[in-house]
Amino acid sequence: MKILILHGPNLNLLGTREPEIYGSMSLDDINKKMIGLGKELGAEVKCLQSNHEGALIDALQDARTWASGVVFNPGGYTHTSIALRDAISAIEIPVIEAHLSNVYAREEFRHASMISAVCKGKVVGFGWRSYELGLRGLIEILK
Ligand code: DQA
Repeated sequence: MKILILHGPNLNLLGTREPEIYGSMSLDDINKKMIGLGKELGAEVKCLQSNHEGALIDALQDARTWASGVVFNPGGYTHTSIALRDAISAIEIPVIEAHLSNVYAREEFRHASMISAVCKGKVVGFGWRSYELGLRGLIEILK
């Protein structure tokens, strides 16, 4: 079983970016943890980050050819991108939406997600553990 963990814009800055909201773990630390957890649970995890909407769409389309599912944090594009939603609809593998922060306890513009309706499930507010919970849930669904 192969899984893509996909991170959107500004998540490369994790660890230094607003740590009171997003925590002190770097993206590299999170990715290492998820690769290790994947191994424990029998899945090969590949991690990618991009600040560019088109590159995220390319990664989703490409995942269709090799991955069984995706854990996706689209960052700020969550709230704006119909193109990402269309890409998720187009690929026929389950996508789990994940957010470090509880977007519903923050500004109103973060309450709307363009992608939730086309995702298999969603995890918010658990910090880096949102990825862990998303990965565990996705693997269970795929089994
Ligand atoms: C985020 C929440 C988004 O609103 C924000 O734009 C991000 C990170 C999160 O993981 O909590 O970049 O997706």
